[in-house]
Amino acid sequence: MTGVRLEGIVKAYGRIQVVHGIDLNVEEKEFVVLVGPSGCGKSTTLRMIAGLEEITDGTLHIHERLCNRVAPKDRDVAMVFQNYALYPHLNVADNIAFGLRIRKTPKAEIAKSVSDVAEILGLTEYLDRRPADLSGGQRQRVAMGRAIVRHPKVFLFDEPLSNLDAKLRTQMRAEIKRLHKRLDVTSVYVTHDQVEAMTLADRIVVMNKGIIEQIGTPMDLFMNPANTFVASFIGSPPMNQMPATITRSPDGYRALIDQVSVPLHNSLSVSEGQDVIVGIRPEHFSLKNDGGLPAIPLSLDLVETLGSEALLHATVDNQSVIVKTDTNGDISQLSNVDTVYVPPEKVKIFDAGTGKVIS
Ligand SMILES: Nc1ncnc2c1ncn2[C@@H]1O[C@H](COP(=O)(O)OP(=O)(O)O)[C@@H](O)[C@H]1O
Ligand SMILES: [Mg+2]
Repeated sequence: MTGVRLEGIVKAYGRIQVVHGIDLNVEEKEFVVLVGPSGCGKSTTLRMIAGLEEITDGTLHIHERLCNRVAPKDRDVAMVFQNYALYPHLNVADNIAFGLRIRKTPKAEIAKSVSDVAEILGLTEYLDRRPADLSGGQRQRVAMGRAIVRHPKVFLFDEPLSNLDAKLRTQMRAEIKRLHKRLDVTSVYVTHDQVEAMTLADRIVVMNKGIIEQIGTPMDLFMNPANTFVASFIGSPPMNQMPATITRSPDGYRALIDQVSVPLHNSLSVSEGQDVIVGIRPEHFSLKNDGGLPAIPLSLDLVETLGSEALLHATVDNQSVIVKTDTNGDISQLSNVDTVYVPPEKVKIFDAGTGKVIS
């Protein structure tokens, strides 16, 4: 069964259209993350699923039920917001219980549910506290508790971790993942942070300017981006992209980046003289030539040490590139690097005009 199905979903505010006909199937129990730059229409899309924004055109099904005109409270979805939206005058227990009281759930049942949810989220000892006396992470857990306690069919999250500091964000990210494993509820999660998307999602939806650029598993998007937008958005640092021209040599096609020529996998459908973008992930370069790999000369500007890894900032002819390498605890040789190697199957080629990948 489909958890959430969007077909041709459009949103316009007056005459300005901001979501341009989105198709998306979220399977039951799947964790799908909508990711994209600020203003691309993620929140608007999520709020249409929640019923907080009217759908201009297209259809929305939740668990096979047409929901375009169903009131938010009758959609059986629960939403967690970035700003937590807790009631400041209520303690943790009452904040969690709020939705159940509105629905006239029997008192004993509410008490049991609140205690179960507090146990799951590690909030048992804070039930009497007000939100002002909690840390950011604890407030976020209360907001989550309020969603969980209703046993909704679908969880909707809008940037729930954006107000937390980096360390807490990493911790809460793991908690959300654990929670999803335990509760197994269909989830749609919005973030602008590709790391959050990569670590949480079963599938990622990359959005840009009100359209979907690509849908796929995290590894799918990392290894096989459909276009230069996805190649730049997913991965950190992003995929290196260098304008080049296709040339032909006796052993097959090559991409000529200024004076440097990179051999290409022989299955690519390119033609001589074609303008392309060469895409190589920072982590797909290697400093050693194990097995007859083509060499790429580079000139090094800067070595950034991260501990287990280092980033080499360099230029290939006049194009900036970043190479990511393991340090194995020793960076003494890195400042001498003048050549890197790349297996042809790791070199992506995009059309210079459309930005679409060439396969
Ligand atoms: N109530 C509104 N009226 C007019 N434009 C809006 C309204 N809400 C959002 N927008 C516009 O819709 C676009 C998408 O916004 P949003 O979905 O919030 O983006 P995201 O969540 O991806 O950052 C933006 O250009 C934003 O300015
Ligand atoms: Mg938003």
